[in-house]
Amino acid sequence: MAEKQVALCFTALVFFSLLNFYVSAIPSKQTGLLIKELNRRGPYIGLITVYAPEEKAFLSTGAFIPNPKHPFVDLSGRRFRVGTVYGKKVIYVKCGVGMVNAAATAQQMLDLFAIKGIVHFGISGNLNNSLSIGDVVIPKQFAHTGLWNWMNPNGTVDPTDVAHLEFGNYNVPQGDGVNLLGQIGYWTEEIYSVSGEPNNPVSVLWVEVSRKWLKLAASLEGMELERCVNSSLCLPENPKLVVGLSGSTSNIFMDNAAYRDFLSETFKVSSSDMESSAVVMTCLSNGFPSLVIRGMSDLAGGQSGENTIDKFGSLAALNTAKAVLKFISKLPVKGVARV
Ligand SMILES: *[C@@H]1O[C@H](CO)[C@@H](O)[C@H](O)[C@H]1NC(C)=O
Ligand SMILES: *[C@@H]1O[C@H](CO)[C@@H](O)[C@H](O)[C@H]1NC(C)=O
Ligand SMILES: *[C@@H]1O[C@H](CO)[C@@H](O)[C@H](O)[C@H]1NC(C)=O
Repeated sequence: MAEKQVALCFTALVFFSLLNFYVSAIPSKQTGLLIKELNRRGPYIGLITVYAPEEKAFLSTGAFIPNPKHPFVDLSGRRFRVGTVYGKKVIYVKCGVGMVNAAATAQQMLDLFAIKGIVHFGISGNLNNSLSIGDVVIPKQFAHTGLWNWMNPNGTVDPTDVAHLEFGNYNVPQGDGVNLLGQIGYWTEEIYSVSGEPNNPVSVLWVEVSRKWLKLAASLEGMELERCVNSSLCLPENPKLVVGLSGSTSNIFMDNAAYRDFLSETFKVSSSDMESSAVVMTCLSNGFPSLVIRGMSDLAGGQSGENTIDKFGSLAALNTAKAVLKFISKLPVKGVARV
């Protein structure tokens, strides 16, 4: 009898481990049906922000109205909120810091939901001395500046690298200019895309947002933005919105003046963040339009004293959210279903 039970247990164990073998990231049947139903009422504008302060700023505007019947779908631990902004259907999600979170979330959104394109938004470091904290940028392109070839001091420079940083140039005192950290060569990204030849990536430094959406975003220049965090903390000038510059993305929170200068001089970039190029590249791979809206919270190390992200981050996030809402208001209704 006992033997029979053991055999039965063993069979069950084998059966269930086989079942486990087939578990995949595709949502459960119930979630799948819900997504199917939601998609029938699409398409949606995809909205991806990064972390809690940005989410707080976006939701605090009150412009996002959750779908009363199906306010969200939870996938891979993230909450994809379903609703409308100014009557236009949106799916909004907070992806988490860094390029892996950003790319994984964008891919999942495009795979599972009926999406028109993705508007990605958040705060960023300001690398451009003509811009100020509180300003909002809507760049035309992003470079991933964290794909490196890290070489020995005497390493042979690869001519295909797009730029080089020599640590020896930054010695204090300068001395003989030798530094054991050597030098860094900057690589391009390898982009796979639906419009390219399968299995054959293309190397590019810049990934570009949707030209059509960027043109539409140009009409946001001159919009009114907030100047004050509260009654006692205000920026010296009214913030502005600038469209069409270049940005940098890497898995690095930049708070260093020398590196800030190197990046802005070498790549002519005006902002530094940790997600944008990943979202834009994922959209390009899949053939979807994207736009990125980033508010300046700090000078990425160019400040004297402490980084101002804690002081002005909420203001930058609010100005970013306002620009996102304004852009959504400008999107043509055609192709973006109304309620
Ligand atoms: C670089 O090469 C020179 C000449 O071969 C050598 O003297 C020096 O020790 C090398 N430096 C490093 C850090 O490897
Ligand atoms: C910095 O911002 C100013 C003001 O918008 C712009 O004219 C300039 O082109 C930017 N610099 C770079 C390197 O993009
Ligand atoms: C305004 O915000 C700053 C920065 O968060 C804070 O230190 C200060 O106490 C606030 N002042 C008021 C009046 O709320």
